Amino acid sequence: MKSKSVFLAAGGLAVAAGIALGANSLVLADEMHRVQLADAAQMAAVKERQELMKSIGGNTKTIADFLKESKGTAGEAQAAAAKISELAKSIPAAFVTEASLSEMDAVGKNRGKPEIWLSWDNFVGRAKSLEDKSAALASAFQGGDSNAIQTAFGDMGKNGCGACHEDFRGPKVE
Ligand code: HEC
Repeated sequence: MKSKSVFLAAGGLAVAAGIALGANSLVLADEMHRVQLADAAQMAAVKERQELMKSIGGNTKTIADFLKESKGTAGEAQAAAAKISELAKSIPAAFVTEASLSEMDAVGKNRGKPEIWLSWDNFVGRAKSLEDKSAALASAFQGGDSNAIQTAFGDMGKNGCGACHEDFRGPKVE
């Protein structure tokens, strides 16, 4: 009798364990689903901010083309500088969703370094710096002094774009 009840108890345990296992794998599936959803949100965020950067890059090219190759008009270059200043305001919001280089595989070709989120205030400060420097460039175009325009363009490139990329943009992902 005693051994039978031990057997039953063991069976009961096995059943209980089976149920517990089943419940665990449900929890696991749910967890994986959530991880996949997180990845999808990160993917969308990375894509969105890369598009924003491309747009900022395109406007910068419009200005460089005018200054270096006399393509387009001063008015177009001025408008591009003003546009960069406006786009710079969207940088912080576009980077709110975290995705670090250590998760590159999960989020495509992300180049945002973990430092963005570890040093968020500095990152936001860099975005503000670009906003101000591109606005100063637009004003220089308005003033029409070519030396002032060149200086403002160099300042924006080096201390606006370059400074942020140096601290917060990781290596190119092939
Ligand atoms: C506040 C920080 C910051 C500033 C300011 C900034 N960038 Fe970026 N930029 C980044 C980061 C971070 C990435 C990488 C984004 C990613 O891969 O998710 C990036 C990526 C880019 C890319 C690559 C986009 C792609 O994936 O194809 C270009 C082009 C670019 N930036 C141009 C510029 C130019 C031009 C300026 C200045 C007019 C500028 N950026 C200013 C942070 C900045």
